[in-house]
Amino acid sequence: MTVQSKPLDDAVGTGEVRFPADFTWGMATASYQIEGAVAEDGRTPSIWDTFSRVPGAVMGGDTGDVACEHYHRMPSDVALLADLGATSYRFSVSWPRVRPDAGPVNPPGLAFYDRLVDELLGHGIAPWLTLYHWDLPQALEDAGGWTNRDTAHRFVDYALAVHDALGDRVPTWTTLNEPFCSSLLGYTAGHHAPGRQEGAAGLVAAHHLLLGHGLVTTELRSRGADRLGLSLNLTVPDPSDPDDPVDVDAARRIDALHNRLFLDPVFRGSYPADLLEDTSHLTWQRKPWYDVVRDGDLAITSAPIDVLGVNYYHGNEVSGHLRTDVVGVGADGPDRVAVSPFVGSEHVTFPSRGLPVTDMGWEIQPEGLHRLLRRLHDDYPRLPIYLTETGAAFADVPDEHGVVHDPDRIAFLDSYLRAVHLAVDEGVDVRGFFQWSFCDNFEWAFGYAKRFGLVHVDYDTQLRTPKSSAHWYAELSRTGMLPA
Ligand code: NOJ
Repeated sequence: MTVQSKPLDDAVGTGEVRFPADFTWGMATASYQIEGAVAEDGRTPSIWDTFSRVPGAVMGGDTGDVACEHYHRMPSDVALLADLGATSYRFSVSWPRVRPDAGPVNPPGLAFYDRLVDELLGHGIAPWLTLYHWDLPQALEDAGGWTNRDTAHRFVDYALAVHDALGDRVPTWTTLNEPFCSSLLGYTAGHHAPGRQEGAAGLVAAHHLLLGHGLVTTELRSRGADRLGLSLNLTVPDPSDPDDPVDVDAARRIDALHNRLFLDPVFRGSYPADLLEDTSHLTWQRKPWYDVVRDGDLAITSAPIDVLGVNYYHGNEVSGHLRTDVVGVGADGPDRVAVSPFVGSEHVTFPSRGLPVTDMGWEIQPEGLHRLLRRLHDDYPRLPIYLTETGAAFADVPDEHGVVHDPDRIAFLDSYLRAVHLAVDEGVDVRGFFQWSFCDNFEWAFGYAKRFGLVHVDYDTQLRTPKSSAHWYAELSRTGMLPA
């Protein structure tokens, strides 16, 4: 759907705005989505290699086998990042490259990231490293994956190997990217790898991911790391009818499952009481799922962090009634629906508000981002916040001159950045913004059908073409200013 090329939401304003001079302007990617080279230099399969081969699991039968060939094109990709004005680059390390089959360290796999970090630093770009962006070694999944507590300890082994090699040059370390997706979408909804559809498994996986986060945070801190955090995909659930207790309760359940399930163990050392009540009927190995939480675990999950990464694309109107006028496709809209029965609500639906949507069917809702940032500021410890992801899928392709015009993406970014700026102006400590994504890539269950990149990738030739949004973003990084 085409949207206007002006800010989309009056609530975030339209005048000229200036960001602080030291604001971070970054771009983000993830290993499985761009690297390809899945069987090279000792790498063994991850759960996404396996899942993408399950018929029907990924649109078009796409896999990450080749992706953007970034593994072989890394130096020129980094040069392009620098040309486009990135001051920071958020990437993830592939666990099955570094410790294939969860066994000993694989030096050639680790060497790739060593070269990447040096290349970034050589171009004046600060590396921002994510340890887990969903590519669990398949060998660990075969032993139970994130439903097995031992995986949290294997995560520490892997993290230490990466930190030993790169800790001297990488300033910022993110343990987990979007644990909501790697737990509930992977183990309960089954729309992401490993594709399991077991009610309580998603919650058990969430706990072990959070445990792994806390263990790694503690270990890396003891080795001198001082910018540690995780990236959460948070949402803004609004009841369809704020006067209807059924809708209000549905919005509360989504807030518990999507936001507080992760925020509270990290910042408050507890799970939300209402979530525990909603899920008390769910059992794991014939006991209440919550029995996997051992004494002392929540002191580990709440190990102090230094920065909070927020990934925000859109909020949702939420209804507790069965509705058919819902928004979203696949991995976001219906996935939230798919997990909702497991928190004890018969019907949780996401009615359309009639807002413009991106190619994912996701509503364009910048004012939700402003409200989310205000809420974090009001309800949780006031850490430096980085928008570690936002962006939009639009299907723009090169014209007859090879130029890619993507005014909808520019309008999207303009409006979301205005929301960030408004929050900064009001005193919320947001320090930077990472655009998702540097280049078009493997969009998980959607394969290559959805394009989030500032840089267009021709998957037949691997030609990279910066879109007009890439030039717009480069100018923004240079001036720190959005014009009226
Ligand atoms: C969330 C994920 O972190 C990223 O991998 C994904 O491609 C984008 N959002 C868009 O869905």
